[in-house]
Amino acid sequence: MGLLERWARPFAGFGAWLAKLTNGVYRSLGSPGRLFQDLMNGSFLGHSTHGLLTDAAVGAVTTLLVLDAVAVVFGADGSGFETASLVVLGFGALSAWGAVLAGLTDHKDVDPGDARNMATLHGLINIVATIGYTVAFFVRLGGGVGAARWISLVAFVLLASGAFIGGHLVYKYGVMVNHNAFSGGRRAKEFTPILPAAELPEGMPTKAAIGPTNLVLVRRGDVVYALKATCSHAGGPLAEGTLKGDTITCPWHGSVFRLSDGAVRHGPAQTREIAYRARISEGQVEVQGPIG
Ligand code: FES
Repeated sequence: MGLLERWARPFAGFGAWLAKLTNGVYRSLGSPGRLFQDLMNGSFLGHSTHGLLTDAAVGAVTTLLVLDAVAVVFGADGSGFETASLVVLGFGALSAWGAVLAGLTDHKDVDPGDARNMATLHGLINIVATIGYTVAFFVRLGGGVGAARWISLVAFVLLASGAFIGGHLVYKYGVMVNHNAFSGGRRAKEFTPILPAAELPEGMPTKAAIGPTNLVLVRRGDVVYALKATCSHAGGPLAEGTLKGDTITCPWHGSVFRLSDGAVRHGPAQTREIAYRARISEGQVEVQGPIG
């Protein structure tokens, strides 16, 4: 076990409680909560919202650090310079709070274990850093430039440490990474038979495969849909998902994908599911693709 994993392990209980709390809050908000959750996960964007907001926050507070260093070293401390520092600090603190919200939203769907412990530690450090920047903003607004600089410096060290752990989460554990990134699905240029049509029941997600690629098939009369069976969010088994209207819901964290093309209807997934064209021909289910 690595050092970071050892440090993060004591936060397992708190992480479980926090995930439950976040889930409860979102559930109590109903449909608007679901939309806000999609916004925070980045399901509308097809990209991590947390990643966007952390970029903004880290960029702003790094700029603040440089401005403060220039002011202290070269005495470039005019009122225009101070106004710029204050604006950058305010923008950084605001972006950091956005990143905290998006991060909590991602955190609730990380499964128990080292990855979630690490996500909890990452989040706690960054929440403390964000509080630090917020305090620094108001202290600076009140004229306490020197004190605000010290608070910002401590917050920067915390934020950088939190960001390092965040990188570890993504690069080592693949949290919020597209789980189909390295396996785009076996290509079938022509329609290829994969299952006797008689073995595909009406309206029930059914497992099949094309070469090494597992698929989930759904039959609606003569129409057949075929998606890769690995959920793009965290690899959940879509063949065990539930059908509703023209969608399938992943059994692990509830991502919802459109059957016809794999588009994300609801997160936490951000990346569309790999989809194939499918048909019934001469008593066989055939697929061709992937689409797009
Ligand atoms: S694995 Fe998380 S929603 Fe499918």
